[in-house]
Amino acid sequence: MCGIFGYVGKRQAAPLLIDGLKALEYRGYDSAGLYIVGAGCAKAVGQVKNLETKLGDGFSGNTGLAHTRWATHGVPSEVNSHPHSDCEQKIWLAHNGIIENYNELKEELISKGHKFVSATDTEVVAHLIEENIKSDSSFSEALLKTLKAIRGTYGLVISSVHEPEKIFVARKGSPIVLGIGEGENFVASDPSAIVPHTKRVIYLNDGEWAILTAGSYQLFDLEGTEISREPQTIEWSVEQTQKGGYDHFMMKEIVEGDNVIKNSLRGRLDEVSLEVKLPELDSVANQLKDIKRIIITSCGTALYSGMVGEYMIEELAKVPVEIEYASEFRYRSPIIEPGTMIMSITQSGETADTLAAIREAKRQGALVVSIVNTVGSTIARESDAVMFNQIGPEIGVASTKAFMSQVTLFALFTLYLGKIRGTINEEMYKKVVQEIIALPDKIKSILSRQEEIKLIADKYSRFEDFLFMGRKYTFPIAFEGALKLKEISYVHAEGYGAGEMKHGPIAMIDENFPTVALALSDAVYEKMVSNIEEIKARSGKVLAIATEGNTTLSNLADDVIYVPETIEMLEALLAVVPLQIFAYYIGVGRGYNVDKPRNLAKSVTVE
Ligand code: AGP
Repeated sequence: MCGIFGYVGKRQAAPLLIDGLKALEYRGYDSAGLYIVGAGCAKAVGQVKNLETKLGDGFSGNTGLAHTRWATHGVPSEVNSHPHSDCEQKIWLAHNGIIENYNELKEELISKGHKFVSATDTEVVAHLIEENIKSDSSFSEALLKTLKAIRGTYGLVISSVHEPEKIFVARKGSPIVLGIGEGENFVASDPSAIVPHTKRVIYLNDGEWAILTAGSYQLFDLEGTEISREPQTIEWSVEQTQKGGYDHFMMKEIVEGDNVIKNSLRGRLDEVSLEVKLPELDSVANQLKDIKRIIITSCGTALYSGMVGEYMIEELAKVPVEIEYASEFRYRSPIIEPGTMIMSITQSGETADTLAAIREAKRQGALVVSIVNTVGSTIARESDAVMFNQIGPEIGVASTKAFMSQVTLFALFTLYLGKIRGTINEEMYKKVVQEIIALPDKIKSILSRQEEIKLIADKYSRFEDFLFMGRKYTFPIAFEGALKLKEISYVHAEGYGAGEMKHGPIAMIDENFPTVALALSDAVYEKMVSNIEEIKARSGKVLAIATEGNTTLSNLADDVIYVPETIEMLEALLAVVPLQIFAYYIGVGRGYNVDKPRNLAKSVTVE
């Protein structure tokens, strides 16, 4: 996610702001900028050091703010990087989060004469404060009115010539932490940028805002009532703060699971009307109505999310789908007849095989729609339409939160496609939407069982071979679970369709070759039970993933991890979470760096 840093105190702000951004570089970003009261604003695309080279001696002042941007709206560019200002460049601010109603706010402000320069949602906030100042007696009142008008999420840091000795801060859904120093105060999007200066911090809660000066801080709620809160002392090292206190980014990103779903849904699902909106696809909606076939082509975990999407689309949108490994698709002679649409899924947006596959498809005239996490990436730019994940960069090499978001976006895409093609009845549509809304809490309940899953992982950590098997919506999860385990623990693990057991794999089974069986309470549950019985009859150990309330599997399998019930179409999102945690603890238990496994890169930009 983007990084925010602000300072007000007795020291020169410029070097502190640059150091603050450097402490946040690990979060991933594509541009950076800062503003210092009395000195002005500087921005740069690329690394923070590009911004640093722009700061001559003139950039002096004791109050300022800075930002590293991970684009969610508008491509990476200087004009789109933060901070953003009002028309008169008297108010400057940086923002993390998504302003969902920025279009309507922007239109209203333009009608009142405001001039916008960027393509971002953030800029609206500066102009709205400017508009509200005209009618309100104080900056604080103008800010309060602005915060109440915003829908969506924000972590805001604001500075202005109207109040040059103050920094204003606000939080709703995007982390903001204050650093309380001696005669100086700090604000950041995570404590890793503050810890080098002070360990006394105050975390803002959603719906709170604050005013910082060199020697004071005040907290308020959205009613303008002052809140009293003492600073707490954090003992984390800088590195620990970057991982949110977890030992690895991978676990931090697994635990984000429920918020990943929420961020993926943000601005796309109306919880009142239960309508799915994908404005990013409206430009190709007419073509989507007429497509005859979809080819999903990607690599690794991204492809496995596509395998789940295949089942969703065929079941509810009734469009034929085929799955293609991009590394194969690009070399064989694919037939792409008119009416074919290509879907690519990619976290990095730079995977060479996936890029080559969509280029070949485009050469043959196919429509290309992609699910991408990195705004401005090559695959994003070369697709005809893109659904961005909106989940911030994934840092662990083993993909976890990206997979959760990719499958979630496939569910939304399926509903969108089925609606415009008239293949989904209203009752089913609403049922699926309601179940999507319920997912974050269900994922959170699985995450609360980490210790239980760790104990099971420890029990199985001695094995050198694993089989993962599933059917239908958990068929792709067998492959994803096996990939997670093999890539971070270097253990041999194979994903298989359970129906294939008799065609070979069962020959491998003995007491030293355990099986992870995805046996959720769905249409193929009884078939899975038969497969488990076949394995037990050959002395194979079985770790089953089952649905809460199942009372029979514990008598058959050696171990069972339960996940909450959901509709069959969404069960992959629940079944995968225990497997991510299982793989993590086995990899860590073997002493490996699960964030950076041997021989692997986060983005395979070469063939
Ligand atoms: C998954 O854990 C791996 N890191 C790998 O399979 C990855 O999913 C694949 O390389 C695709 O990467 P992309 O999503 O950036 O295109």
